[in-house]
Amino acid sequence: MKLTPKQQDMLDGTHGRATQKAMEILVALGTIYGAERMVPVTSVQVAGVSYDNLGEAGLHWLSEMADGGGKTRVLTTLNPAGMDIENWQALGISEDFARQQLRVIDAFARMNVVTTCSCTPYLIGNSPHYGQHIAWSESSAVCYANSVIGARSNREGGPSALAAALTGVTPEYGMHLAENRRPGVTIHVEARLPDNNDFGALGVVIGKRLEQFKEKPIAYITGIDQASVEQLKSFSASVATYGGAAMFHMRGVTPEADRFSPPDETIVITQADLDQAQQSLISAETDEADFVSLGCPHLTLNEIARIAELLEGKRVTKEFWITTARPIKQMADRMGYTHVIEATGAKFAADTCCVVAPIKGRFNALITDSAKACYYASGKNKFKTIIMPFDEVVLAALE
Ligand code: F3S
Repeated sequence: MKLTPKQQDMLDGTHGRATQKAMEILVALGTIYGAERMVPVTSVQVAGVSYDNLGEAGLHWLSEMADGGGKTRVLTTLNPAGMDIENWQALGISEDFARQQLRVIDAFARMNVVTTCSCTPYLIGNSPHYGQHIAWSESSAVCYANSVIGARSNREGGPSALAAALTGVTPEYGMHLAENRRPGVTIHVEARLPDNNDFGALGVVIGKRLEQFKEKPIAYITGIDQASVEQLKSFSASVATYGGAAMFHMRGVTPEADRFSPPDETIVITQADLDQAQQSLISAETDEADFVSLGCPHLTLNEIARIAELLEGKRVTKEFWITTARPIKQMADRMGYTHVIEATGAKFAADTCCVVAPIKGRFNALITDSAKACYYASGKNKFKTIIMPFDEVVLAALE
């Protein structure tokens, strides 16, 4: 790879041990993927924050980078942690876990990372512009950034994202190159998509179809005239989880779709396909459920307002987690939504989610509106799952 004199200095150790390690990671990655040079990034989002996933080895590596003088050079935020940083006791997190999780957060803070833990950085001020190069880790956010914003990111691992933060650059390959953003298959949607869970189910169907190609193409989706932020974040999470997609184009909705014509090869998605996908995410009866969670990906303020409206004056009968970013929770506090919601017995789980928190085996069955949450709750946490529309999820917490 061709490095600038400053990048070469970083690699030679002139800027300290942590920056040197970071540049070594990026050069190794760039060499593997055939990048010719580095490109400057304007935004970073680092995954690998929950101590449940990191373990002692991951924490040790982060501490070494912090001890080695690593400091971020661009705006950098975190993916969800394993607990609500301020209110972990209410979620039944052990003191031992909390101690280790706080050490992780401290290591990031020492490197000047903004320790806001969210998978929707684009809702909380870490919001890049069209065409900007960024280095994000969270798969749903990467898919959202590439597709809905038109920013350019590969799906980074935790170490390579942190390396980009400490150097301000990333190797130019994959989604950073215009030619790799070209769609390869048209997906025409004939199904109705009234709610978040419908977009989640669509992501399941499209993701699985893309998996069948030898070289996974980027989908060019037609037949959807409009989609809200909430629906697009739900779809991004789902198509990234079930199909490993880093990007899609949606005609009339996403900004780069107009640059291309629909590819000739076309797949039609019907209502029956969607219904089948919804059914595949249901492995329990509603009365078996003892856990309800909304906020995968993290909730918007609008969604929290709707929960407050539906719950006002009632009592929940199941453990109900409302997962969101801390800044969104603070807005909900101001608007009085938090007060209304907490009075019902439902719990805010800011900074975290039902997948990355250490709750494996703690519940029997989860009700959610998220196809991605179903995937990981059943796989990682061994819960049965039930998917339903957003409003119905809230009402199910009351029964
Ligand atoms: Fe976010 Fe956790 Fe879902 S990180 S996308 S809420 S699995």
